[in-house]
Amino acid sequence: MTMNSLKEKINIERLPQHIAIIMDGNGRWAKEQGKLRVFGHQNGVGAVRAASEACAELGVKYLTLYAFSTENWNRSQFEVDALMRLLSKTMSEELKTLNNNNIRLNAIGDLERLPKSNYEALMKTIDETKNNDRMTLTLCLSYSGRWEIAQAAKKIAEKVKSGEINIEQIDEKCFSDFLSTNDMPDPELLIRTSGEERISNFLLWQLAYSEFYFTEKFWPDFGKEDLYAAIVDYQNRERRFGKTSEQLKENK
Ligand code: IPE
Ligand code: IPE
Ligand code: MG
Repeated sequence: MTMNSLKEKINIERLPQHIAIIMDGNGRWAKEQGKLRVFGHQNGVGAVRAASEACAELGVKYLTLYAFSTENWNRSQFEVDALMRLLSKTMSEELKTLNNNNIRLNAIGDLERLPKSNYEALMKTIDETKNNDRMTLTLCLSYSGRWEIAQAAKKIAEKVKSGEINIEQIDEKCFSDFLSTNDMPDPELLIRTSGEERISNFLLWQLAYSEFYFTEKFWPDFGKEDLYAAIVDYQNRERRFGKTSEQLKENK
């Protein structure tokens, strides 16, 4: 930690409850050093640990990480296999840390597409951390926003068909209840590393009013101070939700 940590500039009273991160740039980070992309993924695990710890220490309740998208299945078999092996290894190695830090693990996405061993390792860690309540760490695996929205539409259609819900009952609240994030608030802050400024099919519904923060840093280099910087930046924004700045000041 540096002498003057940005942590001191954070207003704990106005912390985001939910931070979502698109962890990008592992491949380029490795390439810069003449290494294989997989080396970047391996070094990305440390950044996951740092971000989780920093959020839990501050009191952020939900941290959601985009780890593997639906589209990432289209990468080379070599890279996909390496990522899956890394996931299994991380699951078994981090269980203790999760429990020591009172962090509950959660996963969203089309998890049935994961190799069986990964699926089982994941479910085991989820089960063994289910009573932790300091923070929920959600890994988005084989996840995409459009997939999730289509899934929700399908589930609602089934309920309408069986007569459990009426068409008139379908509103934004009802729709949200059928998303895999139904037990969390929407992220107030979205962070994307590596200089790319796009959403890449991440939480399309949930990010409707999130503040976006982009940094040039590649994911393996993203540390606690970088997270604090993102939160400080977020706290300097005015979230208007369609209203005017004047209205917000009057209602204060
Ligand atoms: C993010 O890093 C991790 C995953 C998508 C799994 P990338 O692998 O996308 O790295 P870049 O963007 O190619 O540098
Ligand atoms: C988004 O990163 C997905 C994850 C971080 C897991 P990508 O690197 O796959 O995104 P694009 O394809 O460059 O937009
Ligand atoms: Mg990328």
